[in-house]
Amino acid sequence: MKTIAFYDAKSYDREFMGAAPGAGRLRWVFHEFRLTAETATSARGADAVCGFVNDRLDRECLETLAALGVRHVALRCAGFNNVDATAARRLGIAVTRVPAYSPHAVAEHTVALLLSLNRRIHRAYNRVREQNFALHGLVGFDLFGKTCGILGTGKIGRITAQILRGFGMRVLAHDPSPSIEWAAANSVAYSPLAKVLAESDVLSLHLPLSPATHHLIDASALAQMKPGVVLVNTSRGKLLDTAAVIMALKAGHLAGVALDVYEEEEGVFFEDLSGTVLQDDELARLLVFPNVLITAHQAFLTREALAEIARVTVTNLAAGPGGFLPGTVVT
Ligand code: NAI
Repeated sequence: MKTIAFYDAKSYDREFMGAAPGAGRLRWVFHEFRLTAETATSARGADAVCGFVNDRLDRECLETLAALGVRHVALRCAGFNNVDATAARRLGIAVTRVPAYSPHAVAEHTVALLLSLNRRIHRAYNRVREQNFALHGLVGFDLFGKTCGILGTGKIGRITAQILRGFGMRVLAHDPSPSIEWAAANSVAYSPLAKVLAESDVLSLHLPLSPATHHLIDASALAQMKPGVVLVNTSRGKLLDTAAVIMALKAGHLAGVALDVYEEEEGVFFEDLSGTVLQDDELARLLVFPNVLITAHQAFLTREALAEIARVTVTNLAAGPGGFLPGTVVT
């Protein structure tokens, strides 16, 4: 029986992994802490490790895992920017992931954030509970007729675009690998990045994090955007230069920011830190803007997505590492 060291384990992970077909044929060792170079020795005795978005599988971590005989990293997420795939290949470690579990879950959360932020639901909810029924400060705008820029038209970006087309928004998209037929069928126009930045009233990010996309939205990109634009990021935190976003919020250039991911979310998101002193000054600054809405990387968190993540992860774990090429992130 294969032993799986499972990191960053939450109650819902145990529930859904345990219920996945074939899970009973694997031996699970659940760890609540994250997998990093510092914690990697805890995988002793495991054949494979199962990690999530904020586990840090850098060269050092992978070298420790390889020395312990671990031959398979099974990510239970889509993004794999947190794995040094080159080091994995050199060390003979197979890396698998769950490329698509429910793009609808992420797209729907993206739209939930946009609607909540625009219509000030986050503020109205608290206000009404205090029996403050006044409406000042709660003015939003119609999405109908406005332009939404979608950066990245893969699985999630396409569904988000389709939902927003349903609101009657004009959708401009940018992607180095455009889906031409889909765009024609959904009345979406592909445009160069500069035009998308310049014309969007709402900009939503759905592209992967890579060295090429790190800080894609920096001070210069923000300056190209319309005053009053709303920025939504449910993709990866490091796509945004947070310091530049804070400056643009303070200047009033950005009308609002909705985030499900944050540049330095590792060790913060997924944890209950209430009652502790927040050490991250940029996150603390973001949290006090009335026009910033943050969720802690929960866009994937639907029953359907969790069941599919568990099903594919268990299938990958049962098949690996023999069935996979070392270091090739199986898509
Ligand atoms: P996907 O691989 O289907 O699509 C990504 C698209 O981005 C591709 O079409 C690609 O050509 C495009 N792209 C790459 N570089 C680009 C650039 N410089 N400019 C514009 N487009 C570019 O990925 P999927 O499933 O749609 O996921 C997108 C991202 O969403 C993932 O990489 C992940 O970071 C994030 N994600 C977030 C979740 C959450 O819970 N918040 C859950 C799942 C994914």
